[in-house]
Parts: sequence; structure tokens; C-alpha cells
Amino acid sequence: MSIQSAGESPTGAAPASGAPDGAPGADPRTAPDPASPQGGHRTAAIIPAAGRGVRLGPGAPKALRTLSGTPMLVHAVRAMDRARAVSLIVVVAPPDGADEVRHLLDEHTSLAPGGELPATDVLVVPGGETRQDSVRLGLAALPGDVDAVLVHDAARPLVPVDTVDAVAAAVREGAPAVVPALPVPDTVKEVEPRPGGGPEPVTGTPERSRLRAVQTPQGFALKVLAAAHEQVAREGDGATDDAGMVERLGIEVVVVPGHEEAFKVTRPLDLVLAEAVIARRRATDGF
Ligand code: C5P
Repeated sequence: MSIQSAGESPTGAAPASGAPDGAPGADPRTAPDPASPQGGHRTAAIIPAAGRGVRLGPGAPKALRTLSGTPMLVHAVRAMDRARAVSLIVVVAPPDGADEVRHLLDEHTSLAPGGELPATDVLVVPGGETRQDSVRLGLAALPGDVDAVLVHDAARPLVPVDTVDAVAAAVREGAPAVVPALPVPDTVKEVEPRPGGGPEPVTGTPERSRLRAVQTPQGFALKVLAAAHEQVAREGDGATDDAGMVERLGIEVVVVPGHEEAFKVTRPLDLVLAEAVIARRRATDGF
């Protein structure tokens, strides 16, 4: 893995897996993909990791908290690195924490599970006030040869590679926007929020069979996501995910199957679940 600062070009800047660019043995992820309909255009993953993680309780920014001794962000970077389609990872660090994140990723470079060396180039840029700002800053750092992008929350460190690959493949096959999602087990109520804490009147019950809980990575044709972020910046409106912004442009978003292990680490109980998933993976597949 080659860790770079904003401003350094990740394109061809660092050989993958120590092999010279284009030389025999170079990692296929950094070489042009002849099967790509765009003729060699690249897929990048943006990992927004600038959130403070207040709901997890006091402590370091959420992405830097450890799971089984390894920062959540490193798990997330490894998950993207394992995907064949991804040839560049842009990590969006806390606004004042880009150097710390760069050092952290350097430290963990040779510690990939199973001993394999991460081969994807990694660029670290400082994030913004909101998740949207952070994704926008990540988009601004992409080199010109990227035409498809996955946006993956650092807070979903255990997403399986098959889920990442399925999203990337659907984008490569022509879908402008793709989200992994799961059916919702609970019945969901819409309410009239009462910020004071009093009982909230129910205003509706959406039909559960039509609901999906969406996860990340969400995948996009780059120009679609860039246009969505441009419009949201102009309108100053908030959306809780990137696909929601694309929907507002009137562009179709499609769903592919998500995975229960792609859950978001938000509350303290999620840390317990994440540790259990890692322990199970260690026992069954040497994760
Ligand atoms: O807060 P939430 O859990 O929705 O955050 C989702 C992701 O967005 C996390 O990975 C978090 O680090 C990131 N984020 C960010 N910049 C912010 C706020 C959140 O990159 N200002």
C-alpha cells in the first residue's frame, strides 16, 4: 500500500505490491482492465472517516477506535483493498487528523490478515463538518482517470468482499447508482418527532415488505455522484446517504443484496457484535 497526501498524484505514483508499474507481476488492480466498458477507466473507493462517533461514547474519533486491536478504519481500508475492482482508496480523515491517519495506515501496511500485502494506492485527505462535506472533499481528490466510485463508511469495517464486488460490478455493468441493502426485520413506524421526549404520535406504517435498510459501499458513475453533490451543495440540503442525493436528481438507484456483517458500528453494543464477527472469522477462515 502506498500512502499519499492530497496533492500527490496516486496515478502511477507508486508501484503496486512493490512491482514496477506495468511490469510483469504488477497487481491487476492498478493496471488498465481490458474488460472495462470504459476502456481502462478506474474505480476508486472513498472512505469517509471524519466523524466523531458521539453515539459510541467518549473517546477517539470513531474510525480510529480499535476492533480486536486494529483501528476500525484499517479494517475498512482492507475491505476495499480486497475488492478486485478498486484501484485507489481515498480516506477522508478528521479535519485535523490527516497526518495521524496517514501514520496509522503506514503502521498497518504490512499487517494485512493472512500476510498478503495491501496493493491498492491510498490517498488521505482532511474531511469536513458533515459527512456530505467529507465525501465532497474525497471526490475533489480523485484523479482524472477515475470514472466509477464506491463510497464506504469507515463505520462499516466488516463488509464482506463479495458485497463490495457486487456493487462495483453493477456499476461497471451500467447502473448509475447502486446500494447494497437488506430487508427490514422490524415493523417501521413513521412518527411526529417530539424532541422533548414525550410520547410521539404515529403518523404511518410503511408496508414492511417494500422496505430495505441500506448499507455501504454505495457505488456510482462518478459524474452522477459529482452532479448530486454539486446540487446538494447549491441547495444546502441534508441527505443521510449518497444515493438519496442521486434520487433527488431523478436518476434511478438500484439495490443489490447487502450482508448482515456490513452493519454500521454506531452504539457500544455494535462493538461487541463486531468483535464476535472477527472472532468467528478468525476461527473459521484465518481472518
Ligand atoms: O455519523 P455516521 O455514523 O452516519 O457516519 C457515517 C460515516 O461518515 C462514518 O464513517 C464517519 O466517520 C463519516 N463522517 C465523515 N465526516 C463527518 C461526519 C461523518 O467522514 N463530518
